[in-house]
Amino acid sequence: MKRLVVGNLKMNIISKVERENYSRAFLNVLTGKEFKDTHFIICPPFIHLENFSRNLKRDCVSIGAQDTHEEASGKFTGEISAPMIKNFGGDAVIIGHSERRKLFKESNLLINKKIKISLKNNLVPIICLGETRAQRDDGEIKKIISLQLEEGLRDISKAKISQLILAYEPIWAISDGKNANKELPSGDNIMEIRILIQKILTDKFGLNLKKMPQILYGGSVNFKNVEELCVKSGMDGVLVGGESLHPVDFIKIGEVLEK
Ligand code: PGA
Repeated sequence: MKRLVVGNLKMNIISKVERENYSRAFLNVLTGKEFKDTHFIICPPFIHLENFSRNLKRDCVSIGAQDTHEEASGKFTGEISAPMIKNFGGDAVIIGHSERRKLFKESNLLINKKIKISLKNNLVPIICLGETRAQRDDGEIKKIISLQLEEGLRDISKAKISQLILAYEPIWAISDGKNANKELPSGDNIMEIRILIQKILTDKFGLNLKKMPQILYGGSVNFKNVEELCVKSGMDGVLVGGESLHPVDFIKIGEVLEK
């Protein structure tokens, strides 16, 4: 299985000029490099999806969205649906990012609906899980992750769960742009959560260890710490926010994983 480097561009790249600069830089850096064991998924804002899909898709690059509505179409002013994402070149979709859970009050139940409509439209859901600092300090990690999985994946078949991508993102480790010396989990901490997730999937959903979905780490990842956060922890890849806006450093993350 290839390691994944998912780039969540969030609400950035605000003009056509910026988009062209980003795409040009991304392709320049990629040229001449071979990625056999690593795959990139770039998730721009919806407005750039079609353009990115036309210009950046390669054998080693897919395109994803950052969210979807839970219905296919209808009277939902301002929303974007999974079939739209698919029809305009998306391959994957991030669901339940902590910013959406917090700022847009997304519940596990809503996330469950979003996962189902994405699967129905042949998009690979990238589902974010993770605890706040307070929940960690109160020893609630297990409870929170169990609930996120049990409610989020309710009534989804074992075969479909195997095809999902899960991203463990401790919310306290996600960069806020302020603190360069942010405390991050160790490789061992992350490995413990990987084992916890797999145990929940076995106990609650009957998944066999060989059929586990890919599990990524996210939160302040860069090319300098990816060895510790992903390789040492035995994760299947990373979900990258801030660093995905800098193609040189972003692709370097893939180069470390490719070695
Ligand atoms: P970060 O963001 O890499 O900037 O910490 C990760 C995320 O929010 O997915």
